Amino acid sequence: MAIAIERNSPPVRSGAFGPQWDLGDEEIEQLIDVVRAGKLSRLGGSKVIQLEQDFAAKQGVKYAQAVTSGTAAVHTAIGVIDPNPGDEIITTSITDFGTVIGILYQNAIPVFADIDPLSGNLDVNDVAAKITPRTKAIVLVHLFGNPGDIAPFIELARAHNIVLIEDCAQSQLAQYKDRPVGSWGDLGCFSFGGKHMTTGDGGMVITNRDDFAERLKWFADKGNPRQPVYEHNYLAPNYRMTDLQGAVGVAQLKKVDEAVRRKQWAAHQLSEVVASEPGLTLQTVLPDARHSYWVYAFHMDPSQFSVPAKQFADALQAEGVPANSPYLVYPISKYPALAQQRTYGTSGFPWTDPSVGRNIDYGSLSLPGSERFLETAIVVPMNPSYTEQDVESFGAAIRKVAEHYRLK
Ligand SMILES: Cc1ncc(COP(=O)(O)O)c(C=O)c1O
Repeated sequence: MAIAIERNSPPVRSGAFGPQWDLGDEEIEQLIDVVRAGKLSRLGGSKVIQLEQDFAAKQGVKYAQAVTSGTAAVHTAIGVIDPNPGDEIITTSITDFGTVIGILYQNAIPVFADIDPLSGNLDVNDVAAKITPRTKAIVLVHLFGNPGDIAPFIELARAHNIVLIEDCAQSQLAQYKDRPVGSWGDLGCFSFGGKHMTTGDGGMVITNRDDFAERLKWFADKGNPRQPVYEHNYLAPNYRMTDLQGAVGVAQLKKVDEAVRRKQWAAHQLSEVVASEPGLTLQTVLPDARHSYWVYAFHMDPSQFSVPAKQFADALQAEGVPANSPYLVYPISKYPALAQQRTYGTSGFPWTDPSVGRNIDYGSLSLPGSERFLETAIVVPMNPSYTEQDVESFGAAIRKVAEHYRLK
C-alpha cells in the first residue's frame, strides 16, 4: 500500500469509480433476441453478422470479420498473409503480448524495432533499417489510442512490397488525418476485451482488400469455406465469435463514440495540468491525429524529480489516482516466451528453422527509445464514467505529487 505524501492529510480522492462500460437494457434486449432465437452460435444467428456490417460501415471498409479476441484478430491477420516459417514481421516491443502471439503461431519471427520515446509509437526509420528480404509485414500498434504516423509506413510497405497491419486493439475510433485508424493499412485489428467497447472478450479484423476477403473469412473458421464444399483447405483455428457476444457488441458499438468522447474530454483536462508542470510532458500526438485515450499517459523526467516514475505513480495511487508505472516490466522482447524461446517444446522453433540462417537473441537487443518510454511514462486508465470532480482531483493530485518530488 502506497503512503500518501503528507501522512496526516487525506488523499486527494477516495471511493470507487463508476463502471468502465455502459452496459444496460440495450445489451439485455439484444441478448434476449439471441436466446429466444435459440441460435447462440454465429452459424445460423444474426448478431455477429450485424456487428460485422455495422463495424465495417463505421470504419468505412469493405470487409470485417469478428473473432474471439484481439490476440485472435492479430493471429487472423497474420494467417491471411500466410507467411512461410522463418519470414519476419516487424513490430514494437512496447505492446501487449497479443501483438506477437499470432506471429509465433504462424511460425514467423517477430523482429522488434524501436519506438519514439515520447509518442510510444514505432520509429519508421528503425523499422526501415530492420527490413530484410525475409520481411513479410509490419505490425503498427497505435499505443494507448495514439495514432502512429501511418503515411510513411504505407510508403515503406509499398516500396518493399510488404503488408501493413494496424494493431488497433487500444485505439478504436482514434483518427489519423480524416479517417479512423485501422482503415489505412492492409489489415486492421481490434480488441473488445478491456478496451473502449466490450463483448467480454472479442475482436475484429478489417480490410479493404478484395484479395484478402476470402482468407479473412475462412482463417477464423478452421480454413473451411462451408459452401459449396464442406472441407478444410488449410490449417486455421476456430476463432468464431458467438452470437451472444455479437449481441452485446451490436449494442456496445452504438455507445462507443460517447465512451471515447468522455475519455477524450477527461484526457484534455489532465493535459492542461501536465503541460503546466515543469518536468512533466505530454505523450506527443501528431497534429493531424486524434488520440482516443484508451489510457492517458504522460512522462516525468526522472532527472528533475527525487524519485523514479514508479514511485511517482505510487504516490498518485496513494492520492486516489489509479496510476501505474511502468506500463510493462520490460519490453516484451525480454519476456521468457521470447528471450528463452519457450514456444514449441524444446525445439526453439521458429527461430531454429533452417531457413532463418541467423541468430536472433532478444535478450541482448538494444531498444533505447522503448526503455526510455518505460522509465518515464505514467499511465492512468481512462473510464467514461469519470466525473468532473474525479478529473479535477486527478489534476490536483498530479500537481501535489509533482511539487512534492520536484528537485529545487
Ligand atoms: C496492442 C494490443 N494488441 C493486442 C492485444 C490483445 O487483445 P486481447 O486481450 O483482446 O486478446 C491487446 C490487449 O491488451 C493490445 O493492447
